[in-house]
Amino acid sequence: MPNTSSGSEEVHETFSKIPTHVAVIMDGNGRWAKSRGLPRLAGHKAGTENLRRIIRACVRYSIPYLTIYAFSTENWGRPTDEVQGLMQIMEDVIDHELEELNAEGVQIRHIGRLERMAPSLQEKVLRSVELTRNNTRLTLCIAWNYGGRDEIVCAIQRIIAEGIRPEDVDAELVSRHMFTAGLPDPDLVIRTSGEMRISNFLIWQTAYAEWYVTPTYWPDFDESELLKALRSYDQRDRRFGKLSETGCIANPTDEHE
Ligand code: IPE
Ligand code: IPE
Ligand code: MG
Repeated sequence: MPNTSSGSEEVHETFSKIPTHVAVIMDGNGRWAKSRGLPRLAGHKAGTENLRRIIRACVRYSIPYLTIYAFSTENWGRPTDEVQGLMQIMEDVIDHELEELNAEGVQIRHIGRLERMAPSLQEKVLRSVELTRNNTRLTLCIAWNYGGRDEIVCAIQRIIAEGIRPEDVDAELVSRHMFTAGLPDPDLVIRTSGEMRISNFLIWQTAYAEWYVTPTYWPDFDESELLKALRSYDQRDRRFGKLSETGCIANPTDEHE
């Protein structure tokens, strides 16, 4: 459905439904670099540049929550140079982008464990979250040193430590003990670079998320690629185990047939 918007040269689209929460497994930086004969860290830098475009596009399309998988608990198993390079990129991004993101109304959240990161990075992450906590335009949730299993383990530890009785544990209580407490579950998960796997990402929260996988490497996943994902999402019939998106059945008299 084409729709002219701001009067700029850009043409925006409108959709019958837009995901409230988009979560992205930003994969393929290494392959992007390799395909250009560049070192892997050049791919990670290009991926970081791309993030800026996607954040702005989410703001334009009024997507209120964007979660990005940037460093997994398993990524510590990569060569030291690469891990250190990634940590440095994260510090540089905060140093260079925080002010502008804050000015644009982006609220930053972190999911994952602060432990094991350099104290300087821990301090920057905490400062970013604190500085932007009242912003409302877009919540950018950064999964850094994040693992879905680790998150569940952490939630169980906290539930036990709080002395909660087994009969009081339900799905809502578990959600409240996750790193993502207070965030809506993702509606759409995008994975770039073609792998058909979850890689320990939001394994609790994506129970009913729609998936979109593209062969495009993350540094090349631009606004037009995001639009393809949004168009695909727009066509999905989300049934949540029921018979239609709204949970109603077309003809109530069919109910007992
Ligand atoms: C994703 O790109 C970024 C991180 C995991 C930090 P990769 O580094 O996994 O890129 P590929 O999968 O090797 O191409
Ligand atoms: C997932 O990508 C983690 C991030 C994008 C941060 P990986 O490249 O680490 O996942 P696998 O190894 O292909 O499953
Ligand atoms: Mg990868």
